[in-house]
Amino acid sequence: MGLKPVVLVVDDGAANRELIGSYLSQIDCEVREAADGPNALASIEISAPDLVLLDVRMPHMDGYEVCRRIKAMPQGRLLPVVMITGLSQTTHRIMALEAGADDFMAKPVEAAELLARVRSALRLKELYNTLDGAEHVIFSLATAVEAKDAFTERHTQRVGESARLLGQRFGLRETELDTLYRGGIVHDIGKIGVSDSILHKPGPLDPIEWPQMQAHVAIGESIVRPLRSTSGLLPIIRHHHERFDGMGYPDGLRAREIPRVARIVSVCDAFDALVNDRPYRTRRSTEEAVAVLRAGAGTQWDPETVELLASELPSLQHVGAA
Ligand SMILES: [Fe+2]
Repeated sequence: MGLKPVVLVVDDGAANRELIGSYLSQIDCEVREAADGPNALASIEISAPDLVLLDVRMPHMDGYEVCRRIKAMPQGRLLPVVMITGLSQTTHRIMALEAGADDFMAKPVEAAELLARVRSALRLKELYNTLDGAEHVIFSLATAVEAKDAFTERHTQRVGESARLLGQRFGLRETELDTLYRGGIVHDIGKIGVSDSILHKPGPLDPIEWPQMQAHVAIGESIVRPLRSTSGLLPIIRHHHERFDGMGYPDGLRAREIPRVARIVSVCDAFDALVNDRPYRTRRSTEEAVAVLRAGAGTQWDPETVELLASELPSLQHVGAA
């Protein structure tokens, strides 16, 4: 990011701002504060920060309204907003998402969780800062695909974070880590071309629907292919549904024929889907999810990646991926 990233902390309680500020001292960033919504909006107007940590319950203008107004500002569209609230019920979570918030945390805020979420949000902002116009379209499209489905909220970003983390543990180079992160975010971009009735079907797909769902990898590839700068992402987009035993799609690649980055994203994608609610089932515990992955290691998934993921659960928990 060159200069230090700027985090704007918006909370009517001075003690809360101070506490969050003290946590943030562990990250190389500049912290700004605002005591209410109007002051936050004025501060963003003067100079846009890289991230806003926004309290929900504030006098005069609540956090939802502040978030909506931020997202309506030209400089606010790609500015990540993480909402913090004492209310952890699903309705408040949905209200935060409807207001355009990028992430959501419940009080009391724990240092490790806050730091992981802030790092994750700043990484996404840094990614956006480096994109050219055409790439912006690609990543905005990927976000739009995700926004169609409240069940997959932040799913692709978690997949990107966890794929990058596993790549790091595998000792991959920085360029490959970048590919894993970006590929994790855009891997399902082709779902933009799949009808909602298929994407959201609560039961199994029929023989007519199934090929339409499978087409998302080829659709995704055709969306991204014209951009030279994103060519590293193509193997992930095309091959994230290959299976280790060669029974996957679209090319029936097996084992190490499947590009490694695609094998990693595929395991992270499956894991995150298992530990989060989906239209057709409720979430599993991390232990159950690992058991499912282990049962499918060597047939569906790359055994090496599955074992690495199992051993990295605590770190994955911090990126909100476990
Ligand atoms: Fe997919």
